[in-house]
Amino acid sequence: MTQRVVLIGGAGFIGHNLALGLVERGHQVEIIDSLQINNLLTFATTNRKANNRDLHMRMLHQRLDLLHEAGIPLHVQDARDYHALSRILTQIKPQVIVHLSAVAHAGRSNKDPFSTFDHSLRTLENALDCARGSHVERFIYFSSSMVYGNFLTPEVSEEHPLNSLGIYGALKVAGEKIVVAYQQVFDLPYTIIRPSALYGPRCVSQRVGQIFIENALQGKPLRIEGDGEEKVDFTHIDDLLQGVALAIEKPAARNQIFNLTYGQSRSIRELAEVVKQHFPQAKLEHVDRDRLMPFRGTLSIQKANALLGYQPLNPIEVGFPKYIEWYREQLPEKVDAPEQVPV
Ligand SMILES: NC(=O)c1ccc[n+]([C@@H]2O[C@H](COP(=O)([O-])OP(=O)(O)OC[C@H]3O[C@@H](n4cnc5c(N)ncnc54)[C@H](O)[C@@H]3O)[C@@H](O)[C@H]2O)c1
Repeated sequence: MTQRVVLIGGAGFIGHNLALGLVERGHQVEIIDSLQINNLLTFATTNRKANNRDLHMRMLHQRLDLLHEAGIPLHVQDARDYHALSRILTQIKPQVIVHLSAVAHAGRSNKDPFSTFDHSLRTLENALDCARGSHVERFIYFSSSMVYGNFLTPEVSEEHPLNSLGIYGALKVAGEKIVVAYQQVFDLPYTIIRPSALYGPRCVSQRVGQIFIENALQGKPLRIEGDGEEKVDFTHIDDLLQGVALAIEKPAARNQIFNLTYGQSRSIRELAEVVKQHFPQAKLEHVDRDRLMPFRGTLSIQKANALLGYQPLNPIEVGFPKYIEWYREQLPEKVDAPEQVPV
């Protein structure tokens, strides 16, 4: 059944891909985004020579073109402004609100907790408050695998203790608690999504996969943080989209928390090897790892499979070749060597 869906923070990497995917499935989608964080306004004001800025600006413009072509309205609005947000939501009367707005990086969050709090939790509380007592049938919150902190076992279910490490994870835990509290107090149904290490077209977030490819394309080394044996549950954006669409469409997702990943962690070295198959000349280099990045692993997707029928299709051997192919189509000219942030 067609749903009216609003994505707050929907012009970001996940949001714009999700908007396009939901429209393809017949939903009506509108986006609210300030374009200020890790988006056009950030890149427009950075040094033209820095970190492939022109390439990333092109990707950001592509996002807007694709949204425009798909007929998806974009409300350029800072969601920290409660009254402005409330006005737009009252106009749209969404059945589903998806909250994606955040400073979506552990490293950047630790450097700037004030702004992370503002763009992540302030916007969340505003959205929840606008949603209560309205037509909203489901509030979907984007949390993260970072809520678990160091994984106590190689594979974790949604029941694993929340031992977050650093500002980003702590705010995600707080966000989850607030979302659940709005259900308890105001009967606002929710679904909480915990993704991990996403990759795919038009990502400008400087995570490891993106940087490996951009470096390889210009003959620069692939920099591996730590010894390379650390494992992460790399997830292609298409798999996440499948899971979120199912969570929107299936009543079984009501008031549930889901890990939504590929469901099998792989080491950074394995990822580098997959990339190297496409760039045999690429050298590997080791650099120090960020001490505030938790040691993670596999997120069990059993619950999402059982309740939603979620079935991801992209191990890194399938997802990364597609991603590399997409990059090759984007790059008529050489790219600069970017600075890598932790996954
Ligand atoms: N990408 C991943 O690997 C990953 C993994 C786990 C969780 N998440 C979570 O998923 C969500 C989306 O991540 P993403 O990768 O698309 O990030 P992103 O940085 O690409 O997108 C975030 C968007 O939010 C917008 N935004 C920020 N502050 C805003 C404000 N005050 N008002 C309106 N819009 C605002 C930004 O302009 C940006 O377009 C985030 O909550 C993130 O923490 C992402």
